[in-house]
Amino acid sequence: MSPIHVETKGWSQCSAARRIATSRLLKQVFLLSAIVSSLGAIAGASAQTETTAGKFYRITGGKVDARTYHGYRLYQGSCSHCHGPDGMGSTFATPLVDHLPEADAFRRIVSGGQSSGTSVMKGFAEDPNIAPYIDDIYAYLQARADGALGRGRPIKSAP
Ligand code: HEC
Repeated sequence: MSPIHVETKGWSQCSAARRIATSRLLKQVFLLSAIVSSLGAIAGASAQTETTAGKFYRITGGKVDARTYHGYRLYQGSCSHCHGPDGMGSTFATPLVDHLPEADAFRRIVSGGQSSGTSVMKGFAEDPNIAPYIDDIYAYLQARADGALGRGRPIKSAP
């Protein structure tokens, strides 16, 4: 009887000690996860103010980021003579600001071209000035389509 009793006591002491250790550990883990999650919230918040999900452009204080500005330059050089100044459309082609396709469709159309009947746009896949920068053009047109950017030459923010 007695050895069992001692053993039980020993076990219960041990378990009490373990419980204290565990609760201390839990507190530390809890504290740590609270710190991590608040850091995450801070990082998430600042990331959100910088780039809204799904947006290719960034506009701060009325000034556009380098990508969007580059997109504007490319658009003016290679697209505006058909799609009109500032994406407003022309007699040759539809305005892009009114109904801008989703990014994936846009990439596909601009690379591969698109046609319906006599209305034809050639693809830019072989154009070294355009093919690598289709997303830049998208950033510019997306900002225009969202109404975040007006007509005319945008102002580029300092790098
Ligand atoms: C030579 C004239 C011409 C040029 C240059 C041109 N496009 Fe087009 N684009 C067209 C025509 C015409 C269509 C409509 C084709 C059709 O009817 O399917 C079109 C269609 C598109 C569409 C699909 C629009 C929609 O609603 O389906 C996108 C996006 C587009 N062009 C983007 C561009 C971009 C970006 C550039 C510059 C890199 C560019 N285009 C240059 C003539 C042009």
